[in-house]
Parts: sequence; structure tokens; C-alpha cells
Amino acid sequence: MSKDQRFPAAGLHAGWRTRRLLLLSLGILSLFISACGVASSESNVGEHEFDSPLSIPALVEPEVSLDGQKVFDLEFVAGESDLMPGVTTETWGINGSYLGPTIRADRGDDVQINVRNGLDEVTTLHWHGMHLPARMDGGPHQMIQPGETWEPHWTIDQPAATLWFHPHMHGATAEHVYRGAAGLFIIDDPDLEDLALPREYGVDDIPLIVQDKQFNDDGSLDFSTGMMSNLGILGDEILVNGTHAPRFQASTSLVRFRVLNASTARVYNFGFDDNRTFDVIGSDTGLLAAPVSMDRLQLSPGERAELVVSMAPGDDVMLRSFEPDLGMDAWNDRTNGGRDTFEILRITGDDDLVASPDLPDELVEVTELEEPDAVATRQFSLDSSQSINGESMDMGRIDEVIEVDTTEIWEITNEHGMLHNFHDHLIHFQILDIDGADPPEHLRGWKDTVQLPPGRTVRLIAEFNDYADPTVPFMYHCHILRHEDRGMMGQFVVVEPGTDVPDRLENTDDHQH
Ligand code: C2O
Ligand code: CU
Ligand code: CU
Repeated sequence: MSKDQRFPAAGLHAGWRTRRLLLLSLGILSLFISACGVASSESNVGEHEFDSPLSIPALVEPEVSLDGQKVFDLEFVAGESDLMPGVTTETWGINGSYLGPTIRADRGDDVQINVRNGLDEVTTLHWHGMHLPARMDGGPHQMIQPGETWEPHWTIDQPAATLWFHPHMHGATAEHVYRGAAGLFIIDDPDLEDLALPREYGVDDIPLIVQDKQFNDDGSLDFSTGMMSNLGILGDEILVNGTHAPRFQASTSLVRFRVLNASTARVYNFGFDDNRTFDVIGSDTGLLAAPVSMDRLQLSPGERAELVVSMAPGDDVMLRSFEPDLGMDAWNDRTNGGRDTFEILRITGDDDLVASPDLPDELVEVTELEEPDAVATRQFSLDSSQSINGESMDMGRIDEVIEVDTTEIWEITNEHGMLHNFHDHLIHFQILDIDGADPPEHLRGWKDTVQLPPGRTVRLIAEFNDYADPTVPFMYHCHILRHEDRGMMGQFVVVEPGTDVPDRLENTDDHQH
């Protein structure tokens, strides 16, 4: 919708909400539900031309040191961005005013990332999906003061995947990400060079960082949340790589999209307006064993998927988000985006497409973790929007102690009426089952974030094979960032057998490299 329409409409919206509440209190439930339908759903379908060229985040070039270490320089910047036509918006970015560059490195690389905080407030930078020591993780304990530079380094030792980085400042993660500080970290595996997948960055291998925003009249970001939304800010404008109403011009017959839900709260249910199928080739932290053909794919905040889409010459197709299945009751479903539909990205094809090689039938070997190898099952109850197992996040408390060189099952149950998801630092997991049933095929690869609508139980299995350190914890949390900020997060340490862990973690901002 245009700006002039939006603001009067927003006022009307609020009025209706108040009135609906009154009706509810009178118990006129059916009337209430039917009145909801119009005002509570957002859609941009048919409103924009989708003609702005999709911006592609630049690749950041590393300096390679004498011993072969790749050193990347990142800097948090506060600046102004042209996100919406005719206005400028104050935003944050990394090496630029909005979002960050893409880091690309190989499995086996030694990397160091110099992260300078050029903002005037403290923040952190977390490598979401990365397997690395806790003090390099960039979680809430690795704070970077204004003007300081944090220099984490590690060896990349995990499968090829699409990871990302974002601030993780306790209590402020949602705000810092919403302002625009985030970027992709792509891991390539030199052993997979012969696998026939589209891999030319910006040509047939395209990042899609999908975010929703809401803007004030003057172009500034609107931080208000609807009174009724439990999840957080649900914007009515969608940006992809920071581009509003974007179009991608395809020059090849197959295009690989690395899709990241970098929203703080919104769940997307991706698919095409002509209902064409696409091949899902990767989940959060790795390629799948084989492509899975789908026509809808739902991603919650923090999740990634790699899709391959087949184009015909002259094609003109719209990537959309259809109504997501949030599994909540009718009222919460409506007020948390369950009825929202958006156009996301228009994809047009050249008249002469370069023919891509066919997708291989098999991609990589995904070694299945075996349930009998697990030494323990840990239970996690998602029991409110600010706690796990009844406890709110405490930076000084260690919630779980895990012995190194073990395999564990984590059983996560959503006992709350709201949608949540569950993300683990350090490890990649496999989903054993969802409410007792085998996971669907596209969820049978490596994951680090899993969706949990109300009532659902998911059992995960993971190996904790290294990086023991009794004094610096890793996080697990809901990746709906308002929930995380409000305390829906806990901490685990990995220890050598027989190690004492401190009763309280002290000097929690002292654990910088
Ligand atoms: Cu993407 Cu602990 O987060
Ligand atoms: Cu993470
Ligand atoms: Cu949550």
C-alpha cells in the first residue's frame, strides 16, 4: 500500500482492534472472528511493480596471512539507507549502512574476523550455525564496547552451508537485528567442487535475506508492536537484501537461492504464484542427501534453506509468502501473521537462458546419528514467552553441563499457546522425530533451528565432540527475538569428564579473546 493510504488505514486498524476487544468481552465470539478477517491480515499482493534490481551483498575479501589464515575486517556502522522510495531511513549495517557483506570461506580454513564496533552502544556479533569455541561465538558474553575491536578466530570444520551473523546483545538482539545489522556466512567444501550445483555468486547462486519492516511517514523505522502480537514487530513491507519490491533477472536455466529468514518475528511460507515446484537442496547447516521437490516451504526466524528453481526463457514468476501455518488458535493466528500473504521477489528470465547442468540425484552423504549412541535425553519445556523449563535467562547461571565426546537427545516441547522455535549454538542437530513421527524429507539434514508450534514435541540428536570450556557458555534459545530478549534463553557448557563448573559465571563481559 502507498504511504498516504497506510497511515489513515493504520488508525482505522487500531480503532477496530479496541472495538473488537469490547465485543470479545461481551462474548460475541463469532461476530468477533468474522470482523477480524479484514483488518488483521497484511498483504502487499498486487501493490508494487517489483522492478527494483535485487541488491546482492558484496563479498568481503580476506587478507591472507603468511600462514594461510584468512582475515576478514568487519565494522558496525550507523548510517542512512534508501530502503523505501522517496525517503531515507536511519539504519545499522556492517561495512555499510544496511546489512553486511557476505563472508565466504572454505571448510578447513583458518579464519580470523576483526569486528570493530563503530556504534555508540555495546553490541556483539554471533556466527549463527558455526561450530566453534564458545569464546569465539559472539553470544551475549562476547560484548564489544563502542570503538573496540573483537578478534575471534577458529578453524572452519563443518559441512558446506549457508550461515549468518547477527548481533546477540542480551535484551537488545531484536532491536539490533531490526536496525539492519546482519549478513551471510557461506561455507564451501572444496571436496564438493565437482557437484553440479549452481555456484556462481550473484549469477546463479543468489542470497535472499528476507526481512519485514514497518516505516513511519518520514521513513524512519517504526519500532512499535501491535498490542496483540505476541511474536514482536510484524512489518507490512518486505525487503530482500535490503531491496524493496525487488526483481531478479535470471540468466541461467537453474538458479540457486540461499534463503534466510532474518526477520525478528515473522514466519514465511515460501512458494511461487504459479505453484511451480522447486528443489530444496539444503537446510540450516548443510546440504541434504538428495534434492526434495516442494511447492511450499515454511521458514521461521533464523532458519535457512537452499532452493533451486527452474526457469524457462522469458519467465516472469513471483516468489511469495503464503499464509504460514503457525498452529495457534484463531485469534493468535490472526494477530501474529498467520493470515498474512506477501509478494517477495519477482524473478524474470532472459530470452536466452544459459543451460545449467541437471541437478544431481544425490548431493552429499548425511551420516545419520543413531539414537542408541545417546548417553542422555535432556528435556526442554517452552513454557512461556520468557522462559525455558520455568527459568528466565540469567547471564551468571549455567543451565546445562554436557560432557565432551558424547551424543545427546534433546527433547523440546512447546507447552505454551504461542509459536516458538529452538536454536542451539555450537552443534548441528538432526531431527529424530516430530510428535513421534519421522520428520519430512527436507528436515532430514543438518539443522540448528527448529519450529515448535503449540503442543509440539521435537526430539533432536547431536554430538558434542569438542570445544570443552567450563567457564564460557553457549546459548540455546527461541529465535523469535523478542522472546529471546525477554529471557527465553538458557546456557550450556561443554566439559571434560570430572570438571567442576563454577556456581556462578563472573565477569561475563571479560571473556573476550
Ligand atoms: Cu541466531 Cu543465538 O542466534
Ligand atoms: Cu546461533
Ligand atoms: Cu518464542
